[in-house]
Amino acid sequence: MRLYSDNLILRPFELEDAHIVGLLAGDYEIAKTTQNIPHPYPKGAAEAFIKRSHETTKEGTHHDFAIIRKHDNELVGAIALGITPRYKRAEMGYWTGKPYWGQGYMTEAARRLLKFGFEELDLNRIYAFAFTSNPASSKVMKKIGMTYEGTLVQHVLKWDQYHDLDAYGILSQTYQKLQG
Ligand SMILES: CC(C)(COP(=O)(O)OP(=O)(O)OC[C@H]1O[C@@H](n2cnc3c(N)ncnc32)[C@H](O)[C@@H]1OP(=O)(O)O)[C@@H](O)C(=O)NCCC(=O)NCCS
Repeated sequence: MRLYSDNLILRPFELEDAHIVGLLAGDYEIAKTTQNIPHPYPKGAAEAFIKRSHETTKEGTHHDFAIIRKHDNELVGAIALGITPRYKRAEMGYWTGKPYWGQGYMTEAARRLLKFGFEELDLNRIYAFAFTSNPASSKVMKKIGMTYEGTLVQHVLKWDQYHDLDAYGILSQTYQKLQG
């Protein structure tokens, strides 16, 4: 499945993406503000991630997409929805490769994934967490229409330090209203 927006294509990962995924996700700055990306990024981790993403997509519990820039076919990041089918809700997670930060790519990709989640998967709620120390991610969430729902204090332990997480979310009914 492929999703299209003005400048991007969201498509399933292919095994050939493993090298670039390893390079981009292997950056310390990506690991620093994500819950599940290790650093150093282990050899073979990108291949394992890609294979697992194919399985979880088949199971219907996860939709992982590589974010591809249309004009030169570069892989610039990753975005996903982790689905809880019985509650018709999904958690969004994402990263943009550091060389591509600040160019609006994640805002565009996240907006497109929100549309997919509400209009094609018929979800009721989409939510996401940002480290409180990561204002860029909170900004993306706010720009796509999510609202701040509270802070989970010392919710994660990363590299021997506890971190607060800011929770953001949006309901289908709010999304529909925002579409006018
Ligand atoms: C968070 C992240 C995904 C943003 O990706 P991106 O492609 O650069 O996002 P965009 O360009 O669409 O938007 C980023 C916004 O944050 C803003 N921003 C960047 N740094 C900021 C800061 N320190 N304080 C406040 N806003 C900031 C940018 O100005 C931009 O807003 P604007 O378009 O209104 O100017 C990227 O920084 C990243 O991958 N970080 C590491 C991994 C991560 O934290 N993932 C999220 C886990 S919840």
